[in-house]
Order: sequence, then C-alpha cells, then structure tokens
Amino acid sequence: MSAIVWKDELELGLPLIDEQHRRLVECYNELAAAYRRREADVELAHRLGVLLDCAAVHFDAEEALMDELGYVGLDEHREEHRDLLQRVRRFQTVLNEGRQTVTLPVLQYLQHWLLGHHRGADADFGKAARRIIAEALVAQPS
Ligand SMILES: [Fe+2]
Ligand SMILES: [Fe+2]
Repeated sequence: MSAIVWKDELELGLPLIDEQHRRLVECYNELAAAYRRREADVELAHRLGVLLDCAAVHFDAEEALMDELGYVGLDEHREEHRDLLQRVRRFQTVLNEGRQTVTLPVLQYLQHWLLGHHRGADADFGKAARRIIAEALVAQPS
C-alpha cells in the first residue's frame, strides 16, 4: 500500500488544522510502512491506536474552530467525525482481540477514510472558514 503524498492542494489555509492533517497523514504512512515491513500484529495495532488518537484530537480541534467561527455545517460534520471514529474503533476492538489483522483492504479503507473526508467535508469547511475570516477582517474598524 503506497504512502499518501501530501500536496499543497490538500492545504485548507488554516495553519493549525493543516498541521494536524499533515500529522494524520504521517500516522497513516507510518502504519502503512510498518505493514510493508511485515511488523507484528501487536505493533500494527499500536500504530492504528496512534492514528486513532491523533484523529480524535484533531476532530475535537476542528469542531472547536467550527464552533468559534459559527460554521453552519458543524452538526453534520461532527456526525461524520463520530461515524468515522466509531467504524475504525470497532475494527480496533477485533484487532486487539486477535480476530482480525491489518490487511491491504484495511489500509485501503483507512486511506479512503482519511482522504475522502478531507477532500469532501473538510474542504467545504476550509472554503467557508476562509470566507468567514476574510469577512470578519473587512468588517473590523481600522
Ligand atoms: Fe473533519
Ligand atoms: Fe480534518
């Protein structure tokens, strides 16, 4: 499974969020590299846990920023975050119980999980956030 290559087009123009997105991609790439090195299941499970922790922290930060900016899509976006975490946490449970291992389809799913949300809901938020911030700057008395 190939690594995700970070491209400028993935930047939302929101420094904290962009930094967290790059970190999430890094966590995914570390898991994929460990899979290619055929690391033990326990190692892969640990790396998946790191990715999930990173995602949970990021989702909280993104939702806090949405709240701060009064983003109208917050509830829907929060639901999508919750659903994403739930799906991968369910997989993490069967992995920890030794009933599953990390496989190529799992990595493909995770890559889709990260990039699909990023290019869809996150990109929509990025656009709206840049507009809200620009409007607030214009409205500010000089
Ligand atoms: Fe998001
Ligand atoms: Fe995000």
